[in-house]
This record gives sequence, C-alpha cells and structure tokens, in this order.
Amino acid sequence: MAKRPIIWAPDPVLKTKCTPVAAVDDDIRALMDDMLATMYAAPGIGLAAPQIGVTRRVIVVDVSDKDEPANPICLANPEILWKAEETALHEEGCLSLPDLYADVERPVAVKVAYLDRDGAKQKIEAEGLLAVCLQHEIDHIDGVLFVDHLSPLKRNMIMKKMVKAKKNRAREEAA
Ligand code: NI
Repeated sequence: MAKRPIIWAPDPVLKTKCTPVAAVDDDIRALMDDMLATMYAAPGIGLAAPQIGVTRRVIVVDVSDKDEPANPICLANPEILWKAEETALHEEGCLSLPDLYADVERPVAVKVAYLDRDGAKQKIEAEGLLAVCLQHEIDHIDGVLFVDHLSPLKRNMIMKKMVKAKKNRAREEAA
C-alpha cells in the first residue's frame, strides 16, 4: 500500500467522467489499496480514483468512528440503483478542496450496486453519513465536485480560495 499525492481542484482530471473497470484484477486491487492508504493518511472518509489521477470508476470509503474498528469498503463500477425522495443538508468537505466546507443537499438514503475487492457483485443500502459519502464519491467518478451542487456564488467563492491555495502550494514546493 502506497500513499499517493492528492490532486487539488481546479484540475481537469477532477472534471473527467471516468471509465468502468473491465474486471477487478490485481492492478485494480493495488489501486484500491493505494487509495485506502492515501485516504487514511489524509485523513478522510472517502476517496475516488481521479483524486489520485486515475480516471477509472473506483472509490473507497470508511465512515467508521475513530474508536471503532476500521471498516473499509472498496467499490468498483458503483451504480446508484435507488435514491430516497427525502433529502437533507449535510456539511461536506473534500480531500481535493482541503479545509473548505459547505452544506450540500442530497437524498438521505441510497442503494448502490458495485463490484467488491474480489470482483464479486454486491449491493449496499446506506443512510446517514455513509449515504452522503457514497454519493459524494460516485459524483467524483462522473467529474462532479460537491461545490457543483452549490449556487454559482458560493462555488466561485470556494474555487477562488482553491486557486490561491494551489498557487501557494506550488510556491512552497518550488522554494
Ligand atoms: Ni471529495
């Protein structure tokens, strides 16, 4: 498992509609393991492949509490089969937009089909934080960021901060 650099918005790779994986082979398992290592190191509760520069339909999540055992879920080709009609606001952040948060409205529950780390077909029904996290990560593999759910005014405010943060990071890296 190797930690990989996380790509910050704005970046074209984060706007890319990712391609499905043909099968969960050793390469995809290695990608999932790197994604988990990167997510835990950040730390974060979810990560999508494009955030480490890989435009494939792979996401990982773990919404377990700090005092609970880890509960990583690796999903290849995740597909939302059903969404609740009821929606709720939940504050979201993103490892590609560090330290920036906003309330996003989403369905409170979803049912998702996917291939697990062994390539077996699975279905998961999620509510609460896991439902938020799955929808956020599945958005990523369609090239959608949580800021894309906000008003243009709020989105522009956050993206301006990101442009500045990226400039500062590039300056620090060059120094
Ligand atoms: Ni994110």
